[in-house]
Amino acid sequence: MDKFVIRGGNPLVGTIRISGAKNSALPCMAAALLTEDEVTLENIPRVRDIETERRLLASMGAEVGLHEGELKDRTTIDCRRLSDPVARYEIVKTMRASSLVLGPLLARTGMARVAIPGGCAIGGRPIDLHIKGLEKMGAAITQEHGYIEARACRLRGAHLVFDKITVTGTEDLLMAAVLADGDTLMENCAREPEVVDLAALLIAMGAQIEGAGTSTIRVRGVSSLHGAHFRINPDRIEAGTFLIAGAITGGDLIVANCNSAHLGAVIAKLHEAGARIDVLGPDAVRVRAAAKLRAADISTEEYPGFPTDMQAQYMALATQAEGVSLVRENIFENRFMHVQELVRMGANIKVDGSTATVRGPARLSAAAVMCSDLRASASLVLAALVAEGESIVDRVYHMDRGYERFEEKLRGVGAQIQRMGNVFTPREAAAVAD
Ligand code: EPZ
Repeated sequence: MDKFVIRGGNPLVGTIRISGAKNSALPCMAAALLTEDEVTLENIPRVRDIETERRLLASMGAEVGLHEGELKDRTTIDCRRLSDPVARYEIVKTMRASSLVLGPLLARTGMARVAIPGGCAIGGRPIDLHIKGLEKMGAAITQEHGYIEARACRLRGAHLVFDKITVTGTEDLLMAAVLADGDTLMENCAREPEVVDLAALLIAMGAQIEGAGTSTIRVRGVSSLHGAHFRINPDRIEAGTFLIAGAITGGDLIVANCNSAHLGAVIAKLHEAGARIDVLGPDAVRVRAAAKLRAADISTEEYPGFPTDMQAQYMALATQAEGVSLVRENIFENRFMHVQELVRMGANIKVDGSTATVRGPARLSAAAVMCSDLRASASLVLAALVAEGESIVDRVYHMDRGYERFEEKLRGVGAQIQRMGNVFTPREAAAVAD
C-alpha cells in the first residue's frame, strides 16, 4: 500500500497547474449514455475514480477510450451498443458516484439496475432523493438484493423540488429530464460549477436546459441527443487545496490553469486568515505567506458557500493560525476523520458534534498518520508539509482517487515528498527519501 514520506519545513514557491475537475468529469462521462453518438471529453484528470467510471461504462457495453496527452487526458465514449445496463456492486462499492448512471440509463434504455452505493467514511450518502425524483417522472423502482431496479417506457416531465440540496441528485435527474416527454421544472437544485459543466455538455449534445447554476432549472425534453466534444473545467477543490498549501508553508505559489471565479469563498476565507491572495486573472491565483495567520471561522455550505470538500484542508491551516477557529461541518455527518490524526501531530482540536474548535498556532511534529478519505488525506499532507521532521502518510490510495500526480506537483514547487511502497520505518524512509 503506497505511502507518502514528507519532510516538513519547505515553503512552496513556484507555479502549480490545476487538472480537470473529477466531479465534473464523472457526470459528463455518464452523460455519454444518453446518445448513440461518440462523446469526447478533454482535460480529463488522470485519477482512479475516472478509471473506475471507464470500467463501469465498459461493463455495460460502451467503448471508452482514454487517450493520455502530454499533460491532459482525453476520453472518447461510444455508447452505441449498451448490452448490459447494469452497474454492478463490485464497481459501485469502490465509487458511490456510480449512481450517476441511474438517470441516463433509464432515460436512454427504459431500464437500469444499479447497486445501491454503500456509505463511505464521511457519511451514509443515501440516494433517496435521486429515487424520489425518478418516481415522480414515472419510473417504477424496486430495491432488492442491494440493487435498485428502475423501469420506465419513457420518463415524463415533472415538477421536482429537492428536499435537500444534492449535487449528484441534481445531476442525475437533469440527465433523466433531457430525454423525458415534456417539460421538467427542478427547484432547490445544487448550484455547483460541476452542475453547470454538465448542463453545458448536455446543451452541446442538443438538450434544452435553462437555469443551470441557479436553484431553479427548466428542461424541455427532446427525443434524442447527438454527440459532442467538450472540455472539462479545472478542479476548484484541487486549486483550493494548493492555495492552502502555499499559505500554510509560508511560500509564494501561483495556482495556474484554475477558474478563479469558482474560488470566491475560499479566497475570501484565506484573505480573512491573513494570507496574501492576488487573483492574477480568470485562470490564475497567487498566494503568499502572511506575516502571521489569524484564526477565522468556517461553516460549510452548498456552493457558493465555503465547500465541505475544503473543510479538512482549511482545518490544517487553522492549526497554524493565531487564535481560536470554529470549523462547522453542515453537509456530512462524519467529516472529521482527519481530526485525530492532526491531533497526533500536535494540533489542538476539540470536536463537539458538527463543530471542531481549533486553537493555534500549534507546533506540529512529524508522525506516521493514516488517510481515511479523499479530502482528509489532503489535510494530513498539508500538516506534514509544516510539521517538524519526517512524516509517513499511509493509504494514499485515497488521494489517488481525486488528485492527479499530487506528490509530483508538490515536489515541483519545493516540497520534500516521496511516494513509497511498503516502507516499514521512518528510518528506512529517510534513507530512501534523502
Ligand atoms: C458531491 O457528492 C461530491 N461528489 C462530493 O465530493 C461533495 O462533497 C458533495 O457533492 C457536496 O458538495 C461528486 O460530485 C462525485 P450531495 P454528493 O448529494 O452528490 C444528502 C469529493 O471529495 N443526500 O450533494 O453525493 C447527503 O447525505 C466528494 O470529491 C440525501 O440525504 O453529495 C449529504 O448530507 C466527497 N439524499 C447532502 O445531501 C440524497 O439522495 C449533500 O450530499 C442525496 C444526498
